[in-house]
Amino acid sequence: MDDSKFVIIGAKGQLGTALREQYPNARAVDADELDITDRSAVEAFDWDGTTHILNAAAYTNVDGAETEEGRRAAWAINADAVANLVAVAAQYDAALVHISSDYVFDGTKEPHTEDEVFSPLSVYGASKAAGDLAVSLAPKFYLLRTTWVIGEGKNFVRTMLGLAEKGISPTVVADQIGRLTFTSELVRIIDHLLTTNVPAGTYNATNDGEPASWAEITREIFKAAGADLTVTDTTTAEYFAGKEGIAPRPLLSVMDLGKLQAAGFTSRDWHDDLKEYVAKEQQN
Ligand SMILES: NC(=O)c1ccc[n+]([C@@H]2O[C@H](COP(=O)([O-])OP(=O)(O)OC[C@H]3O[C@@H](n4cnc5c(N)ncnc54)[C@H](OP(=O)(O)O)[C@@H]3O)[C@@H](O)[C@H]2O)c1
Repeated sequence: MDDSKFVIIGAKGQLGTALREQYPNARAVDADELDITDRSAVEAFDWDGTTHILNAAAYTNVDGAETEEGRRAAWAINADAVANLVAVAAQYDAALVHISSDYVFDGTKEPHTEDEVFSPLSVYGASKAAGDLAVSLAPKFYLLRTTWVIGEGKNFVRTMLGLAEKGISPTVVADQIGRLTFTSELVRIIDHLLTTNVPAGTYNATNDGEPASWAEITREIFKAAGADLTVTDTTTAEYFAGKEGIAPRPLLSVMDLGKLQAAGFTSRDWHDDLKEYVAKEQQN
């Protein structure tokens, strides 16, 4: 694949950073160079010769999206801006790769299949679902639904490693169940879909392995880091009790990987990627 014909959007985010490593010749832009909510800026961008638009941009602050300002930003970036990209993808005959989330569902079904009906609980989830609908109108799209993303940036594993360094034993929710997804794995999935003759469409795209709660994941992080700390279980309801402006979270976030497997991709176990990630973090 000629990655010089790729454009990476949201290039400084967690996934954007991993995409830049995978596709070093791609044109990579973040909000400071191309604000995708600005329709005229998107139209004026030089898309000539672009074969693939990889959209890693998003408003990802789930609780922030519940505020007045955040609500507008989430809808602008996660929904309206996606429609802007769909329009240029159609105009320039480019494939659109877009990332969605388990938050488009209410987390009552397990596992989530690609054809589950939207049931978002939060503003973030609703704005992502609207983005999914926009993407589905693109002539050629890969819509990848992922969960609990870990890469270069602020994320759960780094937060817990920070607590470990300070010797803090945390209380962590034990009733949200899912799998971590490393950006290295997400990029491997994207590359597989783009380089094999797999039909365009919607795919669940996560690491594999036994699903776990955030509390169980924290124990795995501490084990990998050699931190002798206790993790106390709590429920989502107890953890957020009395706190204002907290977005509702889906409890079951496990994505069915059957379609991805049928497309010839075997996801790595998140436990293995977590061990490697923690080891790398400890070297830094
Ligand atoms: N993080 C998770 O746990 C998770 C879970 C499920 C799905 N996802 C999805 O996975 C994808 C990647 O997530 P991530 O964790 O890599 O996100 P991230 O680290 O928050 O990065 C998002 C990037 O988008 C950029 N951006 C924001 N507004 C923009 C705009 N108007 N125009 C252009 N760029 C803009 C941000 O730039 P600034 O920093 O300058 O604003 C940032 O670089 C997203 O679609 C997200 O919804 C994430």
